[in-house]
Amino acid sequence: MNVTYDFSGKNVILIGGTTGIGRATALAFAKAGANLYVSGIGADSGESLKAEVKPLGVEIEFEEVDVRDSKAMAALHKHAFERFGRIDIAFNNAGVPGKTAPVHELDDEDYDLLMDVNLRGIFNGLRHQVPHMTAKGGGAIVNTSSLFGVMGFATTAVYCASKWGVIGLTNSVALEVARKNIRVNAIAPGSVMTPLLRGMFGSEQSAKDTVLPMIPMGRISDPSEIAQLVLFLSSDAASFITGQAVVIDGGGFVAGADKL
Ligand SMILES: NC(=O)c1ccc[n+]([C@@H]2O[C@H](COP(=O)([O-])OP(=O)(O)OC[C@H]3O[C@@H](n4cnc5c(N)ncnc54)[C@H](O)[C@@H]3O)[C@@H](O)[C@H]2O)c1
Repeated sequence: MNVTYDFSGKNVILIGGTTGIGRATALAFAKAGANLYVSGIGADSGESLKAEVKPLGVEIEFEEVDVRDSKAMAALHKHAFERFGRIDIAFNNAGVPGKTAPVHELDDEDYDLLMDVNLRGIFNGLRHQVPHMTAKGGGAIVNTSSLFGVMGFATTAVYCASKWGVIGLTNSVALEVARKNIRVNAIAPGSVMTPLLRGMFGSEQSAKDTVLPMIPMGRISDPSEIAQLVLFLSSDAASFITGQAVVIDGGGFVAGADKL
């Protein structure tokens, strides 16, 4: 069965869109006809994404912005609103794995990096997207949490805390805008083969050795599978879904990965 979406005429801001899940989502939106305003770290990846998207016949802009920088995030949104006039969909996806170690081996810098990128970064998106979408009559926002946003995992305590925080932001903002035709949801992916997963566990092999025993479907997901969930939640097919954190993990959570 082939599922297709039509986002033609829609404008999407993707923050953390240069690699991995964000890049796969940018490509999926572009193939569905949406114009893109992409941000993230890595000018080279941003430029290569532009080159890949342009032949698809949609508009794409890229700006390298650090989500921790509140002023730069305000400017990014201003530029995106000016460029397209209206942003219909926002995907707040920037994230880092941080240091994988027991809590007593983490220092202030480790804590600040995780909380500032993974949580403040989402806040720095929402605070600009909500007033804009309210003024324009509506929109859809998707924030990236994690399976580690609904469970704990030894050696990733602060990463988990940041991702639980994303769900708190998502639920609360969803309630704030529920009567404004704006839906706000989170995705909670299990293991997805991206630079972040390799970084979290040191290598692709080490990631597989650690996480495969926790995944009933017996495989690590591809970023394109996560992109499909983002498109669904951003689409009118999800018109009554708000304030949810949708777990997409090959069955790990229900099998009790959180009890390991
Ligand atoms: N890969 C997984 O298994 C997995 C599982 C659950 C959740 N996630 C989450 O998915 C999101 C995307 O991660 P990914 O796996 O695709 O990894 P990735 O490393 O490929 O992508 C991370 C993205 O965030 C951007 N980014 C990182 N630091 C930034 C900063 N300071 N400012 C702006 N942008 C920044 C990067 O440029 C990139 O676009 C993250 O939030 C991550 O926590 C990943």
